[in-house]
Amino acid sequence: MAETQEFWNRIARKYAANPIKDMAGYNLTMDRTRAYLAADDDILEVGCGSGATALLLAPNVGHITASDISSEMIAIGREKAAEAKVANIDFVRATPFDDAFPAAPYNAVLAFNFLHLTPDVPATLRRLAGLLRPGGLLISKTANIGGMKQLVFRPVIAVMRLFGKAPSGLSYKTPKQLEAMIGAAGFEIVESDFHGDSRPFIVARKK
Ligand SMILES: C[S@@+](CC[C@H](N)C(=O)[O-])C[C@H]1O[C@@H](n2cnc3c(N)ncnc32)[C@H](O)[C@@H]1O
Repeated sequence: MAETQEFWNRIARKYAANPIKDMAGYNLTMDRTRAYLAADDDILEVGCGSGATALLLAPNVGHITASDISSEMIAIGREKAAEAKVANIDFVRATPFDDAFPAAPYNAVLAFNFLHLTPDVPATLRRLAGLLRPGGLLISKTANIGGMKQLVFRPVIAVMRLFGKAPSGLSYKTPKQLEAMIGAAGFEIVESDFHGDSRPFIVARKK
């Protein structure tokens, strides 16, 4: 975990400054996400990064707890929220497993570009289910690095890791495997789609 935080702290400012590559795909993801959110919702975002998505969605919900393992990402998020005078986001340095989160209070958990970074995806999904109210939603879009086509990238990722350019503990799952794991963690899939690239956008309701 210390290694993970170190990695993301090191690249946080650069990551935050990078423009979104596929703006149309991102906008579609935000539109589909908003369709599931209500004005008084209490939202948890895990792996929030520098807070760009939380800031964008803040006007659509009651409150967002934006969490991330990286203290540097959280610092950037706080800076941006202060600059934009957004008052309904709390930035918290935490992994989903931290005790800081009260049990099952959230209407939705957002996990964007996050689940592939967690080595034990089933345990993470069970934990996220535990943080949701019954009927609450998990909304995820995450890298697809588990398919045959992506096999070629594994040695590249291994080399990048040696040079500190890729995070450790990646989880190589296909979209179908991910859906099955989400189902096994006590969710029903309500939407599964692709928004312009190979990352599955999945919305799942806690049973
Ligand atoms: C690829 S970035 C995604 C950031 C943002 N959600 C986005 O879509 O741009 C992944 C983020 O997850 C955070 N992260 C990685 N492992 C984590 C963990 N176990 N718990 C919490 N956050 C984690 C990193 O610090 C990083 O900010």
